[in-house]
Amino acid sequence: MASIPNEFIETLLDRIDIADVVGARVTLKKAGKDFSGLCPFHAENTPSFTVSQQKQFYHCFGCGKNGSAIGFLMEYEGLDFVDAVKDLAQLAGMEVPMTQYAGQQKHKTNLYAATEKAARIFQQQLKASPQVIRYLKQRQISGQTSKTFQLGYALNEWDGLIKRFGADEQQALAKTGLTTQNDHGRVYDKFRNRLIFPIHDKRGRVIAFGGRAIEADQKPKYLNSPETDLFHKSNELYGLHLARKHSNEDHVLVVEGYMDVVALHEKGVCNAVATLGTATSAQHISNLFKVWDKIVFCFDGDNAGIQAAEKAMITALPLYLDNKIIEFLFLPEGEDPDSFVLKNGKDGFLAAIKMAKPLADFLLEIISRNININSIDGKAQLYEKAKGYIRQLPKGAFKTMIAQQIGEISGVALKVTNQPTPQQKKPETGENPLRKLISLLLNTPQFCENLSNKLNLRALSFKGIEIVDKIIEIQHNNPQINAAAMMEHFRDSEYSPYLGHLMRMYDHLDESQKALEFEDILNYLNKLTSKAEIERLRNKQLQSGLNSAEKQALVQLLRQKSNQ
Ligand code: GTP
Ligand code: MN
Repeated sequence: MASIPNEFIETLLDRIDIADVVGARVTLKKAGKDFSGLCPFHAENTPSFTVSQQKQFYHCFGCGKNGSAIGFLMEYEGLDFVDAVKDLAQLAGMEVPMTQYAGQQKHKTNLYAATEKAARIFQQQLKASPQVIRYLKQRQISGQTSKTFQLGYALNEWDGLIKRFGADEQQALAKTGLTTQNDHGRVYDKFRNRLIFPIHDKRGRVIAFGGRAIEADQKPKYLNSPETDLFHKSNELYGLHLARKHSNEDHVLVVEGYMDVVALHEKGVCNAVATLGTATSAQHISNLFKVWDKIVFCFDGDNAGIQAAEKAMITALPLYLDNKIIEFLFLPEGEDPDSFVLKNGKDGFLAAIKMAKPLADFLLEIISRNININSIDGKAQLYEKAKGYIRQLPKGAFKTMIAQQIGEISGVALKVTNQPTPQQKKPETGENPLRKLISLLLNTPQFCENLSNKLNLRALSFKGIEIVDKIIEIQHNNPQINAAAMMEHFRDSEYSPYLGHLMRMYDHLDESQKALEFEDILNYLNKLTSKAEIERLRNKQLQSGLNSAEKQALVQLLRQKSNQ
């Protein structure tokens, strides 16, 4: 996190020992080079939770959770990043550099104060608005549920909220997105004459708002807070702070609308969350899998719903580990979870969930859509299409099973590990040498020093090359950095959900075996890059000719190749 300098995090993770931090909370036994114990994050009878002193990283093979000592404390104690760092710093007798951090904390505290105050004001205003209460009644939402969700009402005034905040609070109010400015510089309330849904973070603090139109002709139907320092749409889920209390349910429901979550709750289905007018992100899925092992996406049965489901599935594929389950529930045309649960009650809804489609079925459906699998052409098409999807899946039983099924339908056996060729664009996930390289560099950052400058990865069009660059840069700045501290650099990056899984690719190897594996991969990548470079030079030769340096390079490359 930007507020605490990375160097501090690195030093901290170097001074403390994760085995002590975890060992103080979980009974650990030495098992080979690592420690193992019963996972504190899911119920189990045989230990699948391991702690590596060498990497300073923990990992559970059962539930997939992993992280540094900081991540462990966050998860175990329910702390946020800054508090976890503070606790560890205390343990190590270090002081968290406060300058930048204090400023940032204060800024956020002011914003929370503004959102919380606004939520209270909206709530009071709802109590005094018979027409909004009538609206809720008509939608069958009880007073109790309104209270649980802290529903509110924004007055039909330009400064309804502004005038309730003091001069010293106006800046914070603006930074929460609750006020905006028009072209003439006039500041006014963003939400006017709307039913208000406060959006909470997973700890239950108000971070943003959604507002629904009340009049039939009021546009847009829903208005949401903009992205702010407190609110990042692609990380947050509406209702997560309440749904989390139902982590003992075997699944979580992901729906599309605020009202869906509220209506489901009203009828006693409390394990539902909604995306906030955006597509489901990898971060969403990864956050939900931290609490539940199964996600049921619930979409409308129309085309838009199927498209949304397909998008969610594609996002989920790389995170789809064998111990996780994803299902898709498509409601009848014209229904959403809200209307469906009001019509059919809790039992009707639960019965529908039982009929949800497993990801495998949905995936096969998408792959074979619009393809005539009885024709030879169709089989070839199917095979090609399937390869793209299957490559995204992490290695495991599920991947093998899907590949087998495709093999049976298409009549062509699908190799589960696709060796890439340089001409192809590679996705950032699936088995490929770049993934292996990243895994090894994360595990043992010191391998960066053996990456010769000659290895021209840029010649390959792999997605994710920038991660390698970043790792090299980080290790260069701190040559002794350990695996956990390396991972911390990626905490807030879009890659973080993938990197945690990549990290354990080589857990079965010891350091010297890893070094051999690293050498293998370098050789392989070297071959790939020189092949790509030869190709590039040859194409150029045909098109515009080569200068003498290029000619020499080509000769050299061809000579190397014939020696291999
Ligand atoms: P109700 O009509 O109140 O039952 O809402 P709904 O949830 O059925 O609405 P819909 O399916 O149209 O929208 C689902 C979600 O998409 C909403 O909860 C909003 O988050 C978002 N959304 C819908 N309409 C708009 C809009 O006009 N603007 C924005 N920004 N978001 C919208
Ligand atoms: Mn609806």
